[in-house]
Amino acid sequence: MTARLVVAFAAAAMLGGCTQLTLSWADLEPEGAPATPPALAAFDDQPEVATPVDWAARRPLLQRALERHVYGVMPEASATRVVSRRVVNANAYGGRGVLEEYVIAASATFGGVSVAVTSELAPDGFLMSVATPKDAKGPVPVILMETFCPRWSTLPDPGVTRPEGAEDRKGFALSVETYVFGQYICTPPVEEIVARGYAIATIFPSEFAPDRRLEGLAELRRLSAGYADETTRWGAIAAWAFAYSRMVDALETDPRYAAMIAFGHSRYAKSALLAAAFDARIDGVVAHQSGTGGASLNRDKPGESVASITATYPHWFARAYAAHAGREGDMPVDQHHLLALIAPRPVLLGNARRDVWSDPNGAFRAAQGADPVYELLGARGLTVERLDAFDPEAELAFWIRPGTHGVVKEDWPAFLRFLDAHFKG
Ligand code: GCU
Repeated sequence: MTARLVVAFAAAAMLGGCTQLTLSWADLEPEGAPATPPALAAFDDQPEVATPVDWAARRPLLQRALERHVYGVMPEASATRVVSRRVVNANAYGGRGVLEEYVIAASATFGGVSVAVTSELAPDGFLMSVATPKDAKGPVPVILMETFCPRWSTLPDPGVTRPEGAEDRKGFALSVETYVFGQYICTPPVEEIVARGYAIATIFPSEFAPDRRLEGLAELRRLSAGYADETTRWGAIAAWAFAYSRMVDALETDPRYAAMIAFGHSRYAKSALLAAAFDARIDGVVAHQSGTGGASLNRDKPGESVASITATYPHWFARAYAAHAGREGDMPVDQHHLLALIAPRPVLLGNARRDVWSDPNGAFRAAQGADPVYELLGARGLTVERLDAFDPEAELAFWIRPGTHGVVKEDWPAFLRFLDAHFKG
């Protein structure tokens, strides 16, 4: 094996033991059991949903069920305040954008107890970077972004606040990262996105809940000090979803901005979907390779199982999710409900054929399961019958390309086609 391949396999193994699955292909015809129970079927003690008004009554039941069985309970309230805002670079990204940095104070309330988010760089809150097009004729859509990398890598600029000694991604580590997970795994094509008329806002999600078992669980417990039930305490996916909403709080009244779009890849795609399912101010989602605990159904799934994800990442979900491992068929909710809660707003589900670990087929069946809700609400929903028939104009758009897990060259052009179709004009 060449050195590059060794590196590639080692990095894939670090991502949760998915190596053996990257060698198989996702089928392009939907296959497997349909999403159950149907999104509009009777649920709890409510009869079948027949009208948009019925659906409005159904939404909170599904939200509570997803909290109880998968993600853990979200804060009952929150408070957000922009503490400061400064221009980092008035001529950033090829002169196309203005880069700003915000300090934001935020707190989460559980059981009447409010606890403040704190981070190393902003002890009274967290930092957010925002790149805004300079020559926009009116308000622009904002892509809210959480990535695996710190803010100074997602929106790079020498003026961005960072811990002393924190370096830019470079050298061997950068080559490995981009070789395995694609050119855009950390830094999106910022200049192109800004030139196309979108702002990008980004935070580093680990400032809300560190993506490490012990530290993550400890921080989640600290933030939810007023919450007593260990089996339904929130996990990091929920905390990162909460973080998307705090970005919306900070930006929604700024006249420079129009629609708010939550973008995430993989673990952050799970959070982006959850954020939109719970926060109606999020106008659209690009969820790339969200996989298990994201768009892919829990039932009848190849790829990452509930047992595997909850054992490897015990800090991501409520403990109750782990208890469903091996008995997914008995779960009262599944991930098509998560998508249905976003209807009729546009969602793009990104996938790759060799990313069987993320189960593209299960995501497609979830989209099929959510489609009746989109149609009930007057949207087209999912318009295609095969995984590779990309229709960027559909509200439930499905994108699949060759290759593996990551954000590669052909992904952003597809994301931008979808965004232009829904948020331009
Ligand atoms: C692991 C994990 C996935 C997750 C992915 C990622 O592979 O098993 O559930 O989506 O990491 O976040 O890249």
